[in-house]
Amino acid sequence: MDVLSSYLRNLLAYPDARLEKLYQLAKEEKFPVVEPEVGNLLYFFTKLLKPRLVVEFGSGFGYSVLWIALACNGDCTIHCIDYQEKNRRRALELFSQFGLKAKIVYHVGEALTVFDNLSFEDESLDLVVFDHEKQNYSESLELVLPKLKKGGIIIADDVLWRREVVSDNSKKLRVNALRFFLKEIFHRKDLSSFICPLGDGVAVIQKVF
Ligand SMILES: C[S@@+](CC[C@H](N)C(=O)[O-])C[C@H]1O[C@@H](n2cnc3c(N)ncnc32)[C@H](O)[C@@H]1O
Repeated sequence: MDVLSSYLRNLLAYPDARLEKLYQLAKEEKFPVVEPEVGNLLYFFTKLLKPRLVVEFGSGFGYSVLWIALACNGDCTIHCIDYQEKNRRRALELFSQFGLKAKIVYHVGEALTVFDNLSFEDESLDLVVFDHEKQNYSESLELVLPKLKKGGIIIADDVLWRREVVSDNSKKLRVNALRFFLKEIFHRKDLSSFICPLGDGVAVIQKVF
């Protein structure tokens, strides 16, 4: 970890001390979870938006959702999506240990298909998190935008992909897909976006109309 990241990490105040231990466990298992600074960003935007309906694409064992759920009020529902059943079982066990106020529903399946089948009402979602396959981010954006409220926010993790997105040398499909996604979110007139270079890079996208 570089000096800046380590300084920022040391400044963090965890809303629950167990989050720090869970992150260490994920690192030991080499399970890719959001960096704690990104978790803190999720916590910040959840407090700001006070969402009633949240969806996460790529929930793993629930680490990132915990940051959101700990910031939520009791009238919030969070839909987690991941294609691995073992992640669902582990996440539900974890959520029960935390005794969260938010209602959490965990769906197993391919994220875009599950999302489509959930048939959310138009402009009903307050907050959406992308942390699934990076090549699917653009397609996911198209699917989510009609369902997102005006003023609603999408937070997309790993958008700089080990900083390879900024290097001319990388020709990987995933990296090219992320470059396309980033150009799209900055050029669309209905969106207002910024990239925060925390962790592996986070894009924060607001639907303005
Ligand atoms: C980076 S991990 C997510 C970790 C989680 N957001 C966290 O920070 O705690 C990505 C997860 O997305 C899931 N995933 C990847 N592509 C997916 C897809 N197309 N549909 C459903 N799940 C997917 C993987 O099974 C994995 O658990």
